Amino acid sequence: MKRLTIAIDGHSSCGKSTMAKELARRLGYVYVDTGAMYRAVTLFAMRRGLFDSGTLDAAALESLMPQVKVGFRIDPATGLPRTLLCGVDVEREIRGMDVSSHVSEVAALPFVRSAMTRQQQLMGQDGGVVMDGRDIGTAVFPDAELKVFVTASAEVRAQRRYDELRAKGEEAAYDDILRNVQERDYIDSHRAVAPLRQAPDALLIDNSALTREQQNQWLWSKAQERLASPSK
Ligand code: DC
Repeated sequence: MKRLTIAIDGHSSCGKSTMAKELARRLGYVYVDTGAMYRAVTLFAMRRGLFDSGTLDAAALESLMPQVKVGFRIDPATGLPRTLLCGVDVEREIRGMDVSSHVSEVAALPFVRSAMTRQQQLMGQDGGVVMDGRDIGTAVFPDAELKVFVTASAEVRAQRRYDELRAKGEEAAYDDILRNVQERDYIDSHRAVAPLRQAPDALLIDNSALTREQQNQWLWSKAQERLASPSK
């Protein structure tokens, strides 16, 4: 049975990772959350005080990049990956608003992108992978057998993120989250290197009005079509 490379790209907080995780679980593939990798680099920069002057000290981050080791470990309880920074579990820390509001700036840096892209290509080189991010179908795996571009309205995405943070017991204001979602959309789509855009051969899904079950079913059927087709 062939093992596909599946690229799931799209806007922030649109449920990409939920879809991608579920598909990877059903197919028995590895799931890679590339946003978590950019978040871990951002946490590293924050902890080293590289944002302390108000703007990111990119030169200092570039010189420290060889020390930034990002990886994943599977949580035996959930079967899902947890993000490691220099060997330490930072899964919780990378999901907060602090990291969210700085990550787009870090993810726009060419030296950060090239380091993460190289690592992602190694993780997916044998296929059997579902990778979610912004540039997987355009830059990381331009030859992926299945490419999907996911979107939803900014308001729906902000509401989902708000509900998620509140469910974890974290304080959050809807308006701040909406602003963050819109800012990230702008920076992600306008950066010079590997901007967020739909690959010409990616399938578009707007899940604003879909249930989780509906979107999972849609994605599953697309993967089955690719598995059944003799070529791409
Ligand atoms: O998917 P996420 O919200 O966790 O991603 C965090 C940030 O990382 C987001 O603002 C865009 C950036 N990112 C990226 O530039 N390229 C990727 N492949 C994944 C994420």
